[in-house]
Amino acid sequence: FDLFLVALAFGYLLGSIPFGLILTRMAGLGDVRNIGSGNIGATNVLRTGNKKLAAATLIGDALKGTLAVVVAAQFSEILAIIAGFGAFIGHLFPVWLKFRGGKGVATYVGVLLGLAPAMVLIFAVIWIGTAYFTRYSSLAALLAAIVVPLSFFILGEMRLMELFVIMSIITFIKHRANIGRLINGTESRIGARG
Ligand code: G3P
Repeated sequence: FDLFLVALAFGYLLGSIPFGLILTRMAGLGDVRNIGSGNIGATNVLRTGNKKLAAATLIGDALKGTLAVVVAAQFSEILAIIAGFGAFIGHLFPVWLKFRGGKGVATYVGVLLGLAPAMVLIFAVIWIGTAYFTRYSSLAALLAAIVVPLSFFILGEMRLMELFVIMSIITFIKHRANIGRLINGTESRIGARG
């Protein structure tokens, strides 16, 4: 039980590093929370117009989840799952930002990469396909977040299915403002500023 808490805390601490916020500040672009959707994720960093910074945010926010999983996996699979979940929660609810973190998509992918690398391909196909045709980053992520747990279910990977069902539900809740904007047609598209 102690090890569970250690894995959770370790994942949480890694996950709570807000790369979007740190990188945009370091680049002298100010606080990313004051632009676009106000989110700290790669999609919103892209609204600063700096593609490299957005890519670095995506990679940083993803790999912190992967790192949490890979380190904990040295001990056991269940600890890897717990550390991955911790990283996801850390990204969404970082103590440093008064628990107001990101929406979890990049970290979701990073945890997926650590636990089931092949499934990242499925996520990527859904995300890229949806983003290509609609230009909605949020819709792309939400569709991918439905397909991933469904795929684990079909494959009979019940433990991973449970983890990703929970993570997908939390992702949906964090995207409620985006869902509202998608429904009333005001969600901003990739490539549009603001
Ligand atoms: O990954 C977050 C994305 O799905 C939505 O971001 O900034 O448009 O709310 P944003």
